[in-house]
Amino acid sequence: MLSHPVLGPLFGRLRQDLERAVDARSLEEIRIAYLGRKGKVTAVLQGIKDLPSEERRATGRLANLLKDGLEAELASRLERVREAELEESLRRERLDISLPGRRVPYGTRHLLSSIIEEIEDIFIGLGYRVAEGPEVELDYYNFEALNTPDWHPSKSLQDTFYVEVPGSDRRDVLLRTHTSPVQIRVMESTPPPVYIIAPGKAYRHDVPDATHSPMFHQVEGLAVDEGLSLGDLKGTLVTFAKRMFGEDREVRFRPHFFPFTEPSAEVDVSCNMCGGAGCRVCKGTGWLEILGAGMVDPNVFAYVGYDAERWSGFAFGMGVERIALLKYGVPDIRYFFDNDLRLLMQY
Ligand code: PHE
Repeated sequence: MLSHPVLGPLFGRLRQDLERAVDARSLEEIRIAYLGRKGKVTAVLQGIKDLPSEERRATGRLANLLKDGLEAELASRLERVREAELEESLRRERLDISLPGRRVPYGTRHLLSSIIEEIEDIFIGLGYRVAEGPEVELDYYNFEALNTPDWHPSKSLQDTFYVEVPGSDRRDVLLRTHTSPVQIRVMESTPPPVYIIAPGKAYRHDVPDATHSPMFHQVEGLAVDEGLSLGDLKGTLVTFAKRMFGEDREVRFRPHFFPFTEPSAEVDVSCNMCGGAGCRVCKGTGWLEILGAGMVDPNVFAYVGYDAERWSGFAFGMGVERIALLKYGVPDIRYFFDNDLRLLMQY
């Protein structure tokens, strides 16, 4: 072929062109330039019929050889180029799926909110519903209708935050000192039977220390029905204490006084830290005081128009911070309000 007068030089040029062809586009350009309708090899093939008869055979054979060889070469080159291009794009677009994803920082529930939710869940399971009342209250709901006389020590300025109402000289607006006023509000607006708990904030004029905070949380409970007795109160609180502090907890009632319940009791649960043997948390007594409770005083029923002959009830109130302190051994109530994430993230 190299000695052929036309095909020889053509082959030489083709080899140079092929050497420079590095991608699919230049290979296609070569195909068009040599094998296309007006291509150089095509032209030779078309010119064969005009050649002197003794040259036709040899030229035809060589030109066809060149055409077939070039087609095969282009096809295999194209395949290699495509493979290389694919590999290159795989390398370029490589995803390292072993890289850890970006973490989205998210908040956690405040320990006190979780405890309140836990308490709610326990009582909802016992058939109670959740009620709410205002934090800025009237003397009537916070004290009077709860059978708390004017001379009661908790009514003093020492203990209660009174609220000045602009443009008014009323003296009966205050920050509720407990969640018990919700009892009155619920009974005022619903006929018995009643089974509610009322979680929320309460305020007392206390100097903050390890166990006191001027703002704290309580969960109030109230049950009114026919024939409710102290036994029902005790059974309810035993169930609560076991669910909250552990199955083998025990509960004891100590006689106490609240103006709105009679009889009244302070309720202790056996210490969950030492199992009752005595430790730092229970101050060596084996018992933790967790709530106040009692049978609703008939005087309270009179304020809300319930027939005390027909209905009886019990009420209880617990401090959420206190339960959290005891359950988790947190040494200082102020930690709950410092908003130090190192503490809050632990729960
Ligand atoms: N309100 C009382 C307190 O804050 C607790 C309590 C509630 C006691 C209901 C008896 C019944 O100390």
